[in-house]
Amino acid sequence: MVIPDIIIAIDGYSATGKSTLAKEIARTLGFTYLDSGAMYRAVTLFAMEKGLIKGSKVDEPALREALSSCPDIHFGEGNKAYLGERCVEKEIRSMKVSSKVSPVAALAFVRAFVDEKLHEAGSKGRVVMDGRDIGTAVFPDAQLKIFVTASDEVRARRRFDELVQKGTPTPMEEVLTNLKERDYIDSHRETNPLRQASDAFVLDNSDMTLREELTWLQGVLQGRFGILQ
Ligand code: DC
Repeated sequence: MVIPDIIIAIDGYSATGKSTLAKEIARTLGFTYLDSGAMYRAVTLFAMEKGLIKGSKVDEPALREALSSCPDIHFGEGNKAYLGERCVEKEIRSMKVSSKVSPVAALAFVRAFVDEKLHEAGSKGRVVMDGRDIGTAVFPDAQLKIFVTASDEVRARRRFDELVQKGTPTPMEEVLTNLKERDYIDSHRETNPLRQASDAFVLDNSDMTLREELTWLQGVLQGRFGILQ
C-alpha cells in the first residue's frame, strides 16, 4: 500500500502524550516528525537568555527586534532541537522554560516567525506535526487531524514522570499548576488559540496504552485512506 504524501496534524492540551504518539506514527509510516512546541520553547529560551522576560512580562518590542538575529532554530541529530549550533533539547524541556513559554507563544509576531518555519518544513507532506493550532491554523487543510485529550491528573503524572526521568524532579503540584496555566493561556490567547478542529478525530487517551492508541489510529487510517500498516 502506497501511503499518500499527507500531513498529519496532532493537536491537544499540554502533556497529553501528543509527541509520543506523533513520533510513533511518523516512525511507523516513515514520515518526518515535527514538534512545533519545541520551536516556541526555543524562542522562549532565546528570549530568556537575552534578558527579555521579567517575571511573566515579555519585552515585546525588544523580542521582535531580537528575533531578526535569532540563531536558526532547527532539528538536528535524533530530532533534537538546536538554536544555531547549540543543542538545547534539555534546556527547552525544563520547568524554567515551561513556565514562560505560553506568554511568548501568545505573541502574534512570534507565531508568525514560527509558522514560517513550520510551513517550510511541512508543506511537502509526509510529516506528522504536533502542537496546538496545527489543524486549525498552520495546516488547516491537513488530510488527517487528531485532537488528543486526557484528564488533568493523568497529564500531570506523565509530565512528572518525564521530569524525574530527565533528572529534574519537580513537585507534582507545581507540574499540575503549570499545565493548567498553560492550557488557559494557550486556549484564551487572541492569535490562533488552542481549539479542536471541527474535522478532527478526538482521542481521549487517559486510560490507553501507546499500543492501544496505535490500534485506534490504524482504524482511522484504514477508514480514511485504506492504509493498513
Ligand atoms: O507542546 P509543548 O508543551 O512543548 O508546547 C509548548 C508551548 O508552546 C505550549 O504551552 C503552547 C505553545 N505552542 C503553541 O502555542 N502552538 C503550537 N502549535 C505548539 C506549541
